[in-house]
Amino acid sequence: MVKKNTCVFISGKGSNLKNLITHSRNYNFPIRISLVISNNKDANGVMYAKKYKIPYIFINSKIKNNDKEILLNLKKYKISFICLAGYMKIISYKIIQKYQNRIINIHPSLLPKFKGLNTFSRVLKDKEKKTGCTVHYVNKQLDSGNTIMQKVFFLDPNDDEPSVKLKTQKMEYKAFPEAIIKIFRYI
Ligand code: GRF
Repeated sequence: MVKKNTCVFISGKGSNLKNLITHSRNYNFPIRISLVISNNKDANGVMYAKKYKIPYIFINSKIKNNDKEILLNLKKYKISFICLAGYMKIISYKIIQKYQNRIINIHPSLLPKFKGLNTFSRVLKDKEKKTGCTVHYVNKQLDSGNTIMQKVFFLDPNDDEPSVKLKTQKMEYKAFPEAIIKIFRYI
């Protein structure tokens, strides 16, 4: 199998990045993680790039037109697929256009419910019966691209924000790799 050169964008903890790295080391997994981009120099996730000797770069998201630098690096590392894994910035339209249907994101709710930030507190406030995570294509509207995969769990009356986060992330570690396998199944 020819693996797709993939870039993972992160901003923080990087547990999804770590999970994707683990899966990508499997011979049959369709992607190779060839580059990690972080907008945050202190992102814990960068540690995983270092540990597994994956090239990584920092992008200063305060600088205008930083998409030029991003695009140059995507070209340099021959990137054909992008995973957003806890990346807290909006991807510019130029990049979305260039990588149309080749950028996916993981979101900690059952989209279209609870787009944006602070999902866990909103899920609890609205007394949802169930929640979960969504892997979706990225388009120019926030958290609105087509869904590739969702994982659902039922909330418990004792759930609080930390427990919902824990349960959601557990689902994410299944959903993200499964979504990638689903995308490349017939290619
Ligand atoms: C995940 O919960 C993801 O759904 C959201 O950001 C979080 C990133 O976590 N977009 P991590 O950095 O992968 O641990």
